[in-house]
Amino acid sequence: MPNLPIEAEQFEKIRTKVFADSESAVRELASGIADFIRQRQTENRPAVLGLATGSTPVKLYQELIRLHREEGLSFKNVITFNLDEYYGLAPTHPESYRHFMEVQLFRHVDLPANQVHVPDGLVERDRVFEYCARYEAQIAEAGGIDIQIVGIGRTGHIGFNEPGSTRDSRTRLVALDRLTRRDAARDFRGEANVPAYAITMGIGTILQARQIRLIAWGDSKASILRAAIEGAETGSVPASFLQHHPDCAVYIDQTAANELTRFRTPWKVGPVGWDRQLTRKAVTWLAENRQKPVLRLQDEDYTENALASLLVETGSAYSLNIRIFNELQHTITGWPGGKPNADDSNRPVPAEPPFKRVLIFSPEPLDAEIGMAGTIHRLVSQRHEVTLAYLTSGSLGVPDGEARMAFSLLHELAVSGSGSRIQLDQLAKEIDSKAPFDEDSRDLRQFKGLIRRAEARASSQILRLSLDRVTFLDLPFYEQGRYRQFRWGAQDVDLVTTLMGSRKPHQIYLTGAGADPSSVTGITFHLVAAALQVCRQESWFSNCQIWLYSSNERPWPPHEIDMAVPLSPAELGIKLDCLYHHRSQRSQTPFTETQPGEGWQQAEQINRATAKQYDHLGLAEYEAIESFHRLKNVNAN
Ligand code: GLP
Repeated sequence: MPNLPIEAEQFEKIRTKVFADSESAVRELASGIADFIRQRQTENRPAVLGLATGSTPVKLYQELIRLHREEGLSFKNVITFNLDEYYGLAPTHPESYRHFMEVQLFRHVDLPANQVHVPDGLVERDRVFEYCARYEAQIAEAGGIDIQIVGIGRTGHIGFNEPGSTRDSRTRLVALDRLTRRDAARDFRGEANVPAYAITMGIGTILQARQIRLIAWGDSKASILRAAIEGAETGSVPASFLQHHPDCAVYIDQTAANELTRFRTPWKVGPVGWDRQLTRKAVTWLAENRQKPVLRLQDEDYTENALASLLVETGSAYSLNIRIFNELQHTITGWPGGKPNADDSNRPVPAEPPFKRVLIFSPEPLDAEIGMAGTIHRLVSQRHEVTLAYLTSGSLGVPDGEARMAFSLLHELAVSGSGSRIQLDQLAKEIDSKAPFDEDSRDLRQFKGLIRRAEARASSQILRLSLDRVTFLDLPFYEQGRYRQFRWGAQDVDLVTTLMGSRKPHQIYLTGAGADPSSVTGITFHLVAAALQVCRQESWFSNCQIWLYSSNERPWPPHEIDMAVPLSPAELGIKLDCLYHHRSQRSQTPFTETQPGEGWQQAEQINRATAKQYDHLGLAEYEAIESFHRLKNVNAN
């Protein structure tokens, strides 16, 4: 590939290819891998691949399987080495990386079993050192790794090389970082069950591969990718060690790329077309950067910060400041369903009809509450007809301890009166005799789903939602799947389409644009978007606004906010009360980069921070703000 620097990529120290979506990225990567395997076949030589686990490579493996099935790609000459394995897990353990690889790739292709290498998680402690040296020797005996696939963890780790790993580290036993264990908590049903150690190839081992391809999707990876690609080479971001590899390339989707300088502050890398969105982005960025309210920015602030071209196009700082200030001001409304009988020319939501039908989709119980509990409370108080639809039961997120507590409560009830005691007894037996990480039976999963229903109902009541408007769709993709292995289809889309058709909403609220496409949030976003496509021709659709509420993972930055709903201190209190009712979700939420703590603590901090941002931009000072982005083009996502 050519090595000439491209202006837009001047800040990037690793060659980075940005794709519209993960599908197109894996298509290109898999076809390169397939060409290489075939090339080696013609030379009668093996192709040695380094493989990774996690949600990210799943799509790549699906594409390789497709190439095998439909285009005759054979893996007979392929030798594989996996990056890592949890220490203490047997190869048959459902969460072991060995098992993951079997399910996601190995069993679907003609790869000979004796050419597969995944570190053994059960090596005795006193043999680990020797075992790791042997793993390295096997790689060398195979001729070294030709193409190494790596994902990236939110700590910046590659394989399991956590911050602090050195550039020359080799295959070894490592302790896992807290953030990494928290990210894996859902797979293991609770952080406490996540192994504390792993065996991983070292950075030095990875860097010896002839080609390295780093892949990543979704906005949760955006800031660590920026650090790895544009930041200094440092042991605190192990992926940054890839910067000096002679043939490393990063394949990412647009949302994962959003923090790179060429997208975050494109005016710093070259000439840009100043559309409305980019102008707002530049002005809010400048205000934040100069720590000045928008109306106090001066021409010098613009010219000294690479924004002279914006002034050339718009005249002066004075008129530009006023324009952007007004735009921001007009995003603020205490009437998220529109203000009846008011002039709505500068409001985010039309006044008519005065009482709207509103349909809110929540990927799992708690997502909509985190993003918009205060707004739901307002919509209900302002007499709109609000339906809250929970797309999945959320049963996979209920730890056994919570289920146990619920059984004992019901057990007491059953002993004192009627109730189906036998079934409960059976479930209680199952939960106590289950080996760690065994799959839950259907009944147990259903029971866990009921726990989340009960929590969701209780929290909806705090928001004064009428219970007959709280709907549980229990979408089949979730009920039949497990994390990292969900597959959605027409049946899921039909259920959502039917609900939309029956509600004919004036407003739809959803979340998950830009989320990891294999997460529950990412999948539910795509299937609601697919349902919206189906409904495009319906008469209600042209009068329906679609709003995206934010998640803790990615609060809307000011330039992307199209509606800001302020919360009073009392309303924020109601929101928190509502969030506390999802008690099974304690310690279940992944930490976000800047926000440790529980989901509801993160939500409170984010809503307060948005209010502060508005205050600093020179707008009114509120206690907290919930923010929304308007989705104008369903196709765009
Ligand atoms: C784990 C794996 C890494 C992987 C990372 C990110 O820590 N050891 O190899 O890159 O998770 O996982 P995901 O792709 O699920 O975001």
